[in-house]
Amino acid sequence: MSRHLLSIEDINRDEAISILDTAKELSKVTDTAVKKLPTLRGRTIVNLFFEDSTRTRISFEAAAKRLSADVINFAAKGSSLSKGESLKDTAMTLQAMGADAVVIRHQASGAAHRLAGQAWLRGSVINAGDGSHEHPTQALLDAYTMREHLAGGTGDLAGLKVAIVGDVLHSRVARSNLLLLQKLGAEVTLIAPPTLLPVAVNSWAVEICYDFDLDLSNFDAVMALRIQRERMADAFFPSEREYSRNFGLNKERLDRMRPDSILLHPGPMNRGLEISAEAADDSRSVIVEQVKNGVDVRMAVLYFLLGGSQ
Ligand code: CP
Repeated sequence: MSRHLLSIEDINRDEAISILDTAKELSKVTDTAVKKLPTLRGRTIVNLFFEDSTRTRISFEAAAKRLSADVINFAAKGSSLSKGESLKDTAMTLQAMGADAVVIRHQASGAAHRLAGQAWLRGSVINAGDGSHEHPTQALLDAYTMREHLAGGTGDLAGLKVAIVGDVLHSRVARSNLLLLQKLGAEVTLIAPPTLLPVAVNSWAVEICYDFDLDLSNFDAVMALRIQRERMADAFFPSEREYSRNFGLNKERLDRMRPDSILLHPGPMNRGLEISAEAADDSRSVIVEQVKNGVDVRMAVLYFLLGGSQ
């Protein structure tokens, strides 16, 4: 496996399956009373978060600690970045502190690549979400969750039909999921208004649908995407009410999904906008489980990148 995880393009199908298999093994640690393995003892992992996060930051911290690594949490707010320090100088400071891996979230697409592409750091770089570009560990935990529920918990996702609904244009989760799901053999349909799809989407090898009132019983999994208000300088739909009516995952649409299908959301949710409270709390919702699986998958990623030997 490559030294860094910047994009789903950095791993092939077999490597993705190895990460999911390892996450499944490591999940046994999560279920024991003493949630600890000595695997990364003596290693230092820095969480470098320039953009807000709850799930990703906390789960990377929990994952690193469960593997006995030392963790340094760095948030842009309250740091010397407010005094004008550059990404390069920040990275070199982290290197001087002996970082073996840097987990970076940044509002700029390409920030993780920039960090990894220079000689500023000797360790691994893990992309924890860069602008509207990619969020590879989210895609891995989503695939893990689908595999557990829909594919017997082993192998790939061949033949599964997955709908990804909503703000595809601004979504790094959608991009990473599309790449990984296709690598694992799933068939993906993107459902969104034309204004929330990238201009080049017609050149992507994926089914596109502009109407969420299609036959939902065809899908094994439906993933609702968060409306990314923080990345919207313009109006992309007439009103939240209209968006919710046309593209929200609500009770009526839920009733048209199969009883054995699942619904996912990467979080944080805008309840009442892209997903109703009834849908979010339905028995087919695996949203809380996605968070739990995030720790196991991130343990597996850290294990592979830092060369865990035990
Ligand atoms: N899914 C996700 O990235 O959530 P956070 O922004 O809370 O990390």
